[in-house]
Amino acid sequence: MSTTVDLLRREHANHRKLLGILEHQLFELPNARGETDYDIVKATVDYFLTFPSRHHHPKEDVVFNHLKKRAPNEAKKIGDLLREHEELDVYVRAFAGALENVLISGVFPREVMLQGGRAFIDAMRKHVTEEERLFFDKAEEILGEEDWAAIAVETAEFDEHTAVEGAAGDLSALRSTILNWDAESRQPTSGPA
Ligand SMILES: [Fe+2]
Ligand SMILES: [Fe+2]
Repeated sequence: MSTTVDLLRREHANHRKLLGILEHQLFELPNARGETDYDIVKATVDYFLTFPSRHHHPKEDVVFNHLKKRAPNEAKKIGDLLREHEELDVYVRAFAGALENVLISGVFPREVMLQGGRAFIDAMRKHVTEEERLFFDKAEEILGEEDWAAIAVETAEFDEHTAVEGAAGDLSALRSTILNWDAESRQPTSGPA
């Protein structure tokens, strides 16, 4: 098994967890007469504004480009990953913009922000699932040791832990913070004694 694909799968697991948190805050809680915690929503959106485009999608693009060279017909069946990554970026930015408007202005329709949230969550989930179904297994099946060695070198600059920009450590901390906040928010509150 390729360590790069292994890492991409772990990042997908994180994406799924965070999408679940977003869905819980935006839709499940209000449906259950709970209140959305906008600190959690904002932090999660900040994560999705940065992590996929800086650390996740570029690594997939590298793997996909190798696959395209080795097996162009198989790569064609997977679709246009690079375009999908750009589209996901558009979805998350639209949602983040609408969220910002709701948070700073009381007049921006919350419904529009929720539609943006729904669209982003659904698009991201679909993308992650399709990649696991069509792309990762195929890459592992077709690419050889030489490819994976080259991929390891080419993807190193996008690694969350070795990226030079300092923001990477912050993202890891941000992810932990969101998970902690989520766990705390789901704890049953003790009622009056
Ligand atoms: Fe992707
Ligand atoms: Fe992915």
